[in-house]
Amino acid sequence: MFRTQVAIVGAGPAGLTLAQILHLHGIESIVIERRDREYVERRLRAGVLEQGTVDLLHSIGVGQRMDREGLVHRGVHLQFEGERHRIVLSELTGGRAIMVYGQHEVVKDLIAARLAYDGQIFFEAKNVQLDDITTEHPVVRFHCNDTHYALQCDFIAGCDGTHGSCRSLIPAEKVTTWERKYPCSWLGILAAVPPSLDEIIYAWHERGFALHSMRTPEITRLYVQCPPDDNLTAWPDARVWEELQVRLATRDGWTLHEGAVLEKSISAMRSFVMEPMQHGRLYLAGDAAHVVPPTGAKGMNLAIADVRVLGDALAMWYRTGDPQPLERYSSTCLRRVWRAEHFSWWMTSMLHRFPDDDDFQAKLQLAQLRYVCASEAAATSLAENYVGLEHV
Ligand code: FAD
Ligand code: PHB
Repeated sequence: MFRTQVAIVGAGPAGLTLAQILHLHGIESIVIERRDREYVERRLRAGVLEQGTVDLLHSIGVGQRMDREGLVHRGVHLQFEGERHRIVLSELTGGRAIMVYGQHEVVKDLIAARLAYDGQIFFEAKNVQLDDITTEHPVVRFHCNDTHYALQCDFIAGCDGTHGSCRSLIPAEKVTTWERKYPCSWLGILAAVPPSLDEIIYAWHERGFALHSMRTPEITRLYVQCPPDDNLTAWPDARVWEELQVRLATRDGWTLHEGAVLEKSISAMRSFVMEPMQHGRLYLAGDAAHVVPPTGAKGMNLAIADVRVLGDALAMWYRTGDPQPLERYSSTCLRRVWRAEHFSWWMTSMLHRFPDDDDFQAKLQLAQLRYVCASEAAATSLAENYVGLEHV
């Protein structure tokens, strides 16, 4: 049996950011991750960091490479009926902006920071099991490098994502869950070609949604809406480009540049919330407790917002013994979570064509899009949610 103050299950953005926040408060933690380091550092996911996420990463000392390599965006485009409309994010939000910087780059920076301070991360941990979570001395057992470990701690942070198992340890009678599955998926590609526009484009089209984003000045990230049960064999590269060309085309003849497809994957679209996010000494954070469809670009930002609350609450407990911030952890986080759930559902509903939608639905979507682009009040509502609300 060995010991730490906080055991963290999962080395995604939530788990790694929490480890860094705790370290800066002088609190010891150990991270236990099922995958190997290379896998988590290459896993392609989110790309949009809210202003508050950028500020937090700076404040915990992992902002230097992001500042050099990340792309600050002060606007975002909505496109429909072949016309593109720029939402002036910064002008509508008192100067706030988003940063386009890959989630795997954030993860790399956080791992480097942990290891630089001799922080411990167990990669490739198998059979991770949590015991005694309702006592003052919970234990995390796992198998790693041919050794069985029993890690005793004061608290466990369940940061193990959508497919993790920490969530299942909260007894069913103590939780309520909400879920909505959308009848579509996103097929995403990473392409070796410079972005065709220097900002993100969200496109409504009769054939379905499309998104133009980027990772670097040389690499474009693109998505097309596809049926929920589609698989990659139905999407050879030529078909992906054909669909992107149609859905992202404008009346004035803009050119979408094509390049070698470096990676291709399909992600399901789901909304999910679990309440409460805590039980005994187990605190869930990020996708382990809630999931949003990617249309609002909120998932990673919410994960990082959760652990900011958790890190500060744990710091208060260790410093003064005050349990109240920890007791309020779930209700504090859920205010932001439900705001983001609504925004992500709203963006998804406005921009996707679903199989059972009729023409009336299309007319409503277009009316809403036109309103968002024409009304400063409506555009401000989108903008302040997109760059991230400071207070919820
Ligand atoms: P994860 O990143 O899933 O990390 C969980 C970790 O736990 C993983 O490393 C996993 O291997 C590990 N793990 C799982 N089970 C165990 C176990 N039993 N034991 C030990 N370790 C375990 N969000 C945004 O904010 N902006 C975007 O632009 C955006 N775009 C997206 C685009 C797509 C296509 C997708 C799919 C998602 C997008 N997201 C976006 C969402 C974002 O990627 C997630 O919300 C984010 O990864 C959540 O972080 P997390 O740390 O909670 O979970
Ligand atoms: C991305 O760049 O991967 C991205 C951008 C915006 C989204 C989702 C994903 O809404």
